[in-house]
Amino acid sequence: MTSGIRFDNVSVAYGGNVVLDSLDLTVEPGEVMALLGPSGSGKTTALRAVAGFVRPASGRVFIGGRDVTALPPHRRGIGMVVQNYALFPHMRVEDNVAFGLRAQKVPKGEIPARVTEALELTGMAAYARRHPRELSGGQQQRVAIARALAIRPGVLLLDEPLSALDAQLRSGMLAELARLHRELPDVSVLYVTHDQVEALTLADRIAVMDRARLRDCGTPQELYRRPRTEFTASFVGNANLLPVTVAPGAVRFADRELKVPVPAGAVPGAGATLCVRPHLVGLGDGPNALRGTLAEVQWRGATHRLYVDVGGHRVMADLRELRDPPRLGAEVTLHFAPDDAVLLAAGVTP
Ligand SMILES: Nc1ncnc2c1ncn2[C@@H]1O[C@H](COP(=O)(O)OP(=O)(O)OP(=O)(O)O)[C@@H](O)[C@H]1O
Ligand SMILES: [Mg+2]
Repeated sequence: MTSGIRFDNVSVAYGGNVVLDSLDLTVEPGEVMALLGPSGSGKTTALRAVAGFVRPASGRVFIGGRDVTALPPHRRGIGMVVQNYALFPHMRVEDNVAFGLRAQKVPKGEIPARVTEALELTGMAAYARRHPRELSGGQQQRVAIARALAIRPGVLLLDEPLSALDAQLRSGMLAELARLHRELPDVSVLYVTHDQVEALTLADRIAVMDRARLRDCGTPQELYRRPRTEFTASFVGNANLLPVTVAPGAVRFADRELKVPVPAGAVPGAGATLCVRPHLVGLGDGPNALRGTLAEVQWRGATHRLYVDVGGHRVMADLRELRDPPRLGAEVTLHFAPDDAVLLAAGVTP
């Protein structure tokens, strides 16, 4: 089955309240797209619109180039793992996995082999006769994924599939999902999460949602290195967001001039925000030196995080090789390379 998903100006409203606002987004065939955003931002709603469980107020949904907006869920060729992966508790694993095949009227004789194939993909073939209550959380998760894969979908929709698992199991399952996708390279995946590590690890591209709208979309590297909005900068990784004023070829921050790349369209005198990642800020003299007072130090295992007050603004620096951090209240100098800063917002980006 051909895959790929396209949202064409899709809006969803409940009782007049718009919870998904004019979404335009394309997931290429075989691509893993993460939908990342805070609680209530409309991620599950977007997934349900693809699955056919919610009817858009306007706009169209395409799967594999075909307009499916009016099609019922079982005719869309999708596999879905819902937010709490509800397995049918009274059914054995094999019957859970066979469920979608029966609904699709797959010939009876073919079902056992298809069930085994799906369970083997997720490493659960040995558990076919068990009931869900006899499985761990991670095993139930695998069965839920097997159930979604059994119908050989062109599109796989995963809604926070790892949220119920503890941290260690989650990182194991992340590796599993990556392997699964290598084995099924033609399946397009829409992966909802509010965990940036999952999004950065698994996704070819990340769509950032906030308050019913798509705010940003790009590869993990693009969003991390060149975020376009403050929301993306702070949601994908940590960020210093410094209020600055645009000057020709530079910006002014707390009475200092900082050399940073200034986009051609930036208006001198306009206010803007400068994004600098804390791990790209160094201690000591260097380009774009910022003198300030050390306000706080946090030891985080691999790094120390320094909080430095610079002209009334707090600047974070994550330092790896710091043996003895300076004393609190000491005068310190931070610096960052011009190319490690990104100018955002106000008079710059739309
Ligand atoms: N059936 C419904 N009736 C009314 N409002 C709904 C319904 N389903 C969702 N909403 C509202 O739509 C908004 C978006 O919900 P959605 O489930 O898409 O968020 P989400 O991004 O998946 O959040 P979470 O990370 O908490 O799962 C929320 O404000 C929610 O309360
Ligand atoms: Mg949700």
